[in-house]
Amino acid sequence: MVKFLDIYAAIGFVENPFGVFALRPDAQGERLMVGRDEDIQTVAQRLHKHGKITCLDGHVGVGKTSLVNVAAYKCFTAYLAGETPQLLIPSLTSYQLKKDGNVDQFCQEVFQGVAQTLLKFASNLSHFDLPEGLSLPQLDAWLNSPVVQHLNGQAGGGLSVGLAGLASVSASGGLSESSQVNQSAGFSQSGFETLVRRWLDEIFAVQGNGGVVCIIDNVELLETGAAARRMLEALRDKLFNVNGLRWVFCGANGVIHSLASSPRLTAFLSAPLEVSNIHSSSLTELIKARLTEFSTNPEKAETDLPIEIDDLKDLYLLVNSNLRDLLSLADAFCEYCGNTRQPLSSREKRARFEKWLHKATYDKYQALQSRISEKAWAVLDIAMSRQFNGTFGVGDYNSFNSNSTVAFEQTTFSKWIRDLVKLGLLSKSIDDGQADDDGFNRDVFSVTANGALVHYARRKKSESYSAAPQGDWMRRVHHQS
Ligand SMILES: Nc1ncnc2c1ncn2[C@@H]1O[C@H](COP(=O)(O)OP(=O)(O)OP(=O)(O)O)[C@@H](O)[C@H]1O
Ligand SMILES: [Mg+2]
Repeated sequence: MVKFLDIYAAIGFVENPFGVFALRPDAQGERLMVGRDEDIQTVAQRLHKHGKITCLDGHVGVGKTSLVNVAAYKCFTAYLAGETPQLLIPSLTSYQLKKDGNVDQFCQEVFQGVAQTLLKFASNLSHFDLPEGLSLPQLDAWLNSPVVQHLNGQAGGGLSVGLAGLASVSASGGLSESSQVNQSAGFSQSGFETLVRRWLDEIFAVQGNGGVVCIIDNVELLETGAAARRMLEALRDKLFNVNGLRWVFCGANGVIHSLASSPRLTAFLSAPLEVSNIHSSSLTELIKARLTEFSTNPEKAETDLPIEIDDLKDLYLLVNSNLRDLLSLADAFCEYCGNTRQPLSSREKRARFEKWLHKATYDKYQALQSRISEKAWAVLDIAMSRQFNGTFGVGDYNSFNSNSTVAFEQTTFSKWIRDLVKLGLLSKSIDDGQADDDGFNRDVFSVTANGALVHYARRKKSESYSAAPQGDWMRRVHHQS
């Protein structure tokens, strides 16, 4: 019989404290968010600006989506507390541009998501401590809108009816007659879209008094930067000027900056907010917030956890301060520890961590070392240097050469990069598609978590290390260095 072991349940956690999903726009997301006070302020301010798209740029996994979600949620609760005249409702889902995606399909997804958000948040309002006798125009329009009333009536007082219920509401009859149900299979997308637009007009009757905050996320994932630009240009007149929607674009590695060069978009875009890594000094608080949230016995949570917070801090530096990579590695380590019902001493925890780290770094490096050339390894070294912090473009070739103890030739530079990609040590994060003859010029690459671990082993071995010397962070990262 297969036995399933929930390592976290075994140590009194109701959930994996190292989950890698973006923080949600809810009270829990707000409790877990650490180290972003200023950024939240900036995003909240920009979300309040009618007519402009809020733009965020920052490395993959740095916390962009979480930041927008929590900022939008804070705006929502600020409205309910009477602190702002604008009602901003965070969208439950974020949207991604798909390769070969079509504009109509994308719009359909958005209007469905908006409808779901409006229903879900309306049904959740009973969880909020609303001030006695609160009457706010948008809120009243929303909660008393025929759609919500209709579903309310259908669900016997509850608002838990999902989109299927909404889609059956007649579009042709208009909102005021929405108790009339359209059973025809031919209920068209345009009818649905009209319905949602009218609903938004009703709630946000005065332009500029709020909207549903919708995120277009991971813009860099579209095959090319140029394709992202074209798709967003096509969406401009269909989505970005819809009353009652507030848009946010998130992208990694400069793709948002490249959007600004589009004459069709530039006037709509706010200057991109550069989201940087959470400072390592916030890490203890960040981890503790998770322990408090997910442990059934928060006082003992730190003791029960198989890893020391100091080791997590070191791991954070090792993966170039990438929060998602840290959380995912911390989870991998806990899994490696298996069932540790008996709390371990700090020394025991540390010994296990060292052993695991050795496997994840040295052993991995050993296994890969001979599979690519020393020059390819040198590319990894420079990519991880302070100058690039794990992300670089092929156009950075010249500065690679000037920071290296080995010489690269331009013709083979892209081959070394491809080798590292094949081994999973680098990933291509932007394929600009406008490359020059060498086929690479505007592409952007990032060192993966595995790449960072293997690089660490190289750096510790140091005999074949290729980047020019640059400070003592290694000593901080590893106690035995
Ligand atoms: N300020 C924060 N406090 C606590 N945890 C955070 C914070 N920001 C992000 N996280 C966590 O870090 C991880 C990555 O966050 P998120 O998904 O928001 O990053 P991202 O920049 O949107 O990534 P991607 O570029 O892949 O979309 C998630 O597990 C999230 O819960
Ligand atoms: Mg994201």
